[in-house]
Amino acid sequence: MNVLGIETSCDETGVAICHSQQGLLSHALFSQVKLHAEYGGVVPELASRDHIRKLIPLIRRVMRAAGTAPSDIAGIAYTAGPGLIGALLVGASVARSLAWAWGIPCLAVHHMEGHLLAPLLEPDPPPFPFIALLVSGGHTQLVRVEGVGAYQTLGESLDDAAGEAFDKTAKMLGLGYPGGPELAKLAEEGVPGRFSFPRPMCDRPGLDFSFSGLKTHTLSTLATTEGKRQDQADVARAFQEAVVDTLVLKCRRALRECGLERLVAAGGVSANRLMRDKLGQMAKQEGCRVYFPRLEFCTDNGAMIAFAGCQRLQAGHAEPAEIHARPRWPLDELEPPR
Ligand code: KG4
Ligand code: ZN
Repeated sequence: MNVLGIETSCDETGVAICHSQQGLLSHALFSQVKLHAEYGGVVPELASRDHIRKLIPLIRRVMRAAGTAPSDIAGIAYTAGPGLIGALLVGASVARSLAWAWGIPCLAVHHMEGHLLAPLLEPDPPPFPFIALLVSGGHTQLVRVEGVGAYQTLGESLDDAAGEAFDKTAKMLGLGYPGGPELAKLAEEGVPGRFSFPRPMCDRPGLDFSFSGLKTHTLSTLATTEGKRQDQADVARAFQEAVVDTLVLKCRRALRECGLERLVAAGGVSANRLMRDKLGQMAKQEGCRVYFPRLEFCTDNGAMIAFAGCQRLQAGHAEPAEIHARPRWPLDELEPPR
């Protein structure tokens, strides 16, 4: 069974074809980073318009690369949320229209379900159950995953998401958008131990996060320096260490509290080198194993949506011919395929 996946929730147009037995057949991504860079962040209307321009050509390209005709596609999966409403509607209407024209089923996929299943695209995928750390630009969540669609949120950010904190702090440091990778690069030049940032909410029980205070800490620390490049690098390093240590501590706590031995880390921030290293070390100490998507599938992509759709369609999931687009959508509301 071939499933076409379409991702348009934010600033990447992603398309892929996933086969139920052979796995990923082809995928392509168009990033809008250049389009939004001069504004220092995503401009929703520009994002929607660019998805309109890029989506159909990308679908053509991916189908050609996989050698599939419309008659070879068994179903279409699209990101229905959470995300920018205009951007979501582009993917949703194209997916629904194509499925209607081709007479095949179509289904709405939760963007974060896509992220949390992305490591299952790799060889040697994690068996269920596992703990998932979802760290993206819009979400920071710890989720207990029993199977496809069986999710229990254990903790989440009460304010900024981890990626959002990276992006906002990067902006304060005068770095470009998206800030996460830029900040991580600058942090490599930082002197270890010059500054020490707090590890928010680590000294109390629970699995929630709070990252917004780190912005204030960044500002006040920067104000004590001359603002030279080395100062900025030292601040970037201290900030990154604080975020990563906090995430790692909560992952350790979640694994212990749930008595599980497998951890999945996914979403844009899971591309962060320091985080991958420190999660790996923690997992080793705990006698656990950590799984990541390959780097290109940490950030938004069509492959994870095609894969999630394929899992659901294979299990017989069917929905009425309606267009779904939800800017906000709690992951716990999902149900296993039916
Ligand atoms: O999952 P994603 O592509 O989009 C959302 O669903 O939000 O995540 C994007 C986020 C951005 O905030 C970006 O700065 C962050 O992931 N990010 C990183 C790194 N690569 C991407 N943050 C820290 N270190 C990185 N290497
Ligand atoms: Zn995402």
